[in-house]
Amino acid sequence: MIVILLGPPASGKGTQAGALCARYGIPQISTGDMLRQAQAAGTALGRDAARFMSAGQLVPDSVVIGLVGERIAAADCQPGFLLDGFPRTLAQAQALDQLLTERHCKLDAVLQLDVPRTLLVERAVLRRTDKATGKIYHLKYNPPPADAVLDHRGDDQEDKVNKRLDDFERVTTALIPYYQARNLLHRIDGVGSLAEVQARLFAALPG
Ligand code: AP5
Repeated sequence: MIVILLGPPASGKGTQAGALCARYGIPQISTGDMLRQAQAAGTALGRDAARFMSAGQLVPDSVVIGLVGERIAAADCQPGFLLDGFPRTLAQAQALDQLLTERHCKLDAVLQLDVPRTLLVERAVLRRTDKATGKIYHLKYNPPPADAVLDHRGDDQEDKVNKRLDDFERVTTALIPYYQARNLLHRIDGVGSLAEVQARLFAALPG
């Protein structure tokens, strides 16, 4: 099973990815998480990426395509994988097609989470992540336990969130017709409880 979770910043991709991955026994490949890990490790790639991420800008295609190409060659990706936050540009989508062709595998589905922009801003600005477990919380909709030590992402400030949403609308929405034309796209209403959204995602994929 090879699936793309497509959707604007803060639409719930990271929140929903775990259950989808558990259902199919496949790893989650989140380019955002990989780039944040590279930053935390202080690698050259992490330092380069940080300049773009802290400004709410997309990291150059060549960097993320290289990361994904390496990651999907790992043994745990043999049964498939879920891509969270990749591709985000047409060049990335075309590079992914090429990578999959080289590996003699095919994309099964693209799940686009639809959430209105006003809700996305609120979801991002009030998002907090547990530093120890990486679990994603929301101060209003999914409050963290009282003893959790929380991280507030630097790119979740309102001005950066708006920049990221603008980029999504300007650049990443081009992927919707790209995958629609190949009958791979499923549009999922991303508004509702976590369980409701999960049920809609599950219903779009084979059991
Ligand atoms: P990345 O980490 O991928 O960020 P993103 O796509 O902007 O997505 P988010 O992580 O913000 O949101 P999400 O959809 O996972 O939502 P979540 O589940 O957390 O990328 C960060 C940066 O890295 C980019 O800006 C770019 O610089 C770079 N980058 C990464 N990939 C790249 C690429 N391919 N090319 C170039 N650059 C790249 O949920 C959000 C909040 O909502 C949480 O608080 C959650 O609790 C809450 N929530 C979730 N579901 C619900 C619900 N149903 N109801 C109420 N609240 C909910």
